[in-house]
Amino acid sequence: MSEGIVLEEVPDVQAQFQVSTPAMMVIFGASGDLANRKLIPAIYRLSQQRLLPPNFVVLGYARSPLNDEELRLRARNSLLANPEVDFQSADWEAFAPRLYYMSGEYDDAEGFNRLRERIVDLEDQWNIGGNRLFYLSTPPSVYEPVITCLGSAGLVAPVDNHCWTRVVIEKPFGSDLHSAHKLNDHVLSVFDEEQVYRIDHYLGKETVQNVLVFRFANGIFEPIWNRNYVDNVQITVAESIGVEGRGGYYEKSGALRDMMQNHLMQLVSLTAMEPPIAFDAKAVRDQKVNLLQAIRPLRPEEVPNYVVRAQYGAGTADTRPVPAYLDENGVASNSTTETYVAWRLEIDNWRWQGVPFYLRTGKALPRKASEISVTFRRAPHLLFDSADGFDGATRPPEEINQPSTLGMIQNGDSLSRNVLTMRIQPDEGITLKTLAKRPGPSVNLTPVNLEFTYGHSFGEPPDAYQRLLLDVVLGDSTLFTRRDEVELAWQRITQVLDGWQMQEELGANGSAPFRLPHYPAGTWGPAEANALLEREGQHWVIE
Ligand code: BG6
Repeated sequence: MSEGIVLEEVPDVQAQFQVSTPAMMVIFGASGDLANRKLIPAIYRLSQQRLLPPNFVVLGYARSPLNDEELRLRARNSLLANPEVDFQSADWEAFAPRLYYMSGEYDDAEGFNRLRERIVDLEDQWNIGGNRLFYLSTPPSVYEPVITCLGSAGLVAPVDNHCWTRVVIEKPFGSDLHSAHKLNDHVLSVFDEEQVYRIDHYLGKETVQNVLVFRFANGIFEPIWNRNYVDNVQITVAESIGVEGRGGYYEKSGALRDMMQNHLMQLVSLTAMEPPIAFDAKAVRDQKVNLLQAIRPLRPEEVPNYVVRAQYGAGTADTRPVPAYLDENGVASNSTTETYVAWRLEIDNWRWQGVPFYLRTGKALPRKASEISVTFRRAPHLLFDSADGFDGATRPPEEINQPSTLGMIQNGDSLSRNVLTMRIQPDEGITLKTLAKRPGPSVNLTPVNLEFTYGHSFGEPPDAYQRLLLDVVLGDSTLFTRRDEVELAWQRITQVLDGWQMQEELGANGSAPFRLPHYPAGTWGPAEANALLEREGQHWVIE
């Protein structure tokens, strides 16, 4: 065998983690949906895999009048119903006694004094030491009172120099820049930033973390990851389900706040940021913040030119009938809440100047698909004819060093361009579309895929919450959003909200009629979103 670098087998993902320290985890909102569907299963699996020690104890706190046994019964039922959980009676018997519950109000100082006493009792009983993790999975309206009460009950400062106290705050973190800023002020009047873990579960997905590994661990991509080689970047986060009973929440949120502010902004940051100097919380988050700062701000009157919103009507998505959004429970009959957003944004820095980033997210689309597609510019001079309609013509020299602009793309051009697609979910993997010679006597080109699939190489990726919870316990905040990051993302989103408000006001006073576009459930969104790309000679990679 020749000498050289030997690539080792990729070790088991779990073997990379160290086992965590004992801790007391308090879940506010423990009787709710997130705790049942995500948090308890994540803790169960971590325990099952011996990544949490036997004295990692969970105390649920919520308003519902349950006792320990009732919480355990609920947890057991939700684990049994969860297809991602390998329920084993022996593991459950070891896990169940570590689940406790107490009911109380979220703004009641007395209730939090009782909470403190219960925590101290359980810490003694299980010999936990003083590590404490508070998880806010309540409605956002009670984040502030919970934080206040934790402070007044003396539950914020670490018990001693060897212990830690951390707080995890779920999304949505605010509903615009002003409210996010206010919430940050409040949280940081009680906790230090180092104690705060603002969660965006997309960052816990293996495939999302792999965006950085793909870019920065492979020497061949970074040199071409810029305006000289990239024609456009598309990020689609599509869901086939409608709002499914969450109409009340969704009415106040809409796709822009629910998905774009957090998940898509994170995907843009990771795809476009500069290399960090290390893979640690400060270095990675500094670069994400730099990138968010470089997203071109929009003035309210510019918003309709760059952002399309729409709402779904009745239809069939992924073989299931979906009622019109307006017919969902909790939705006002004249609601203009958007269930779909497409946004053409630009990043004003040396790397990306002039490269359009097309983002879209929506509910009731044909299928669930979260993908990042980087389309490269075509070869400057193609020698071959294509079987697929590309004429092989040479691109004019001035076009070669320019990102695509109005009218520059010729027919068949998109077929001849390399597209790198990172599939976040489902069918997790990475595909590079290249051109190949179709077998035969003549030289005909046809697109073929170079393919990597997670399932094939590594099996099913673990759930995002599992990874993120372990990171909190280990004190690694790399995959959580920092104050400046969350506020910058809200700043860009609030500019869009301001533009929409202006549009509606102009509509209401009759100066410019406003009509919210609609799309039938089970289609890829409104015609306006296609037009956003078509006017630049582009099209959505997934359609
Ligand atoms: C949540 C949104 O943050 O993400 C939901 O509130 C959405 O509306 C969900 O359905 C999508 O998450 P995932 O992991 O299924 O893509």
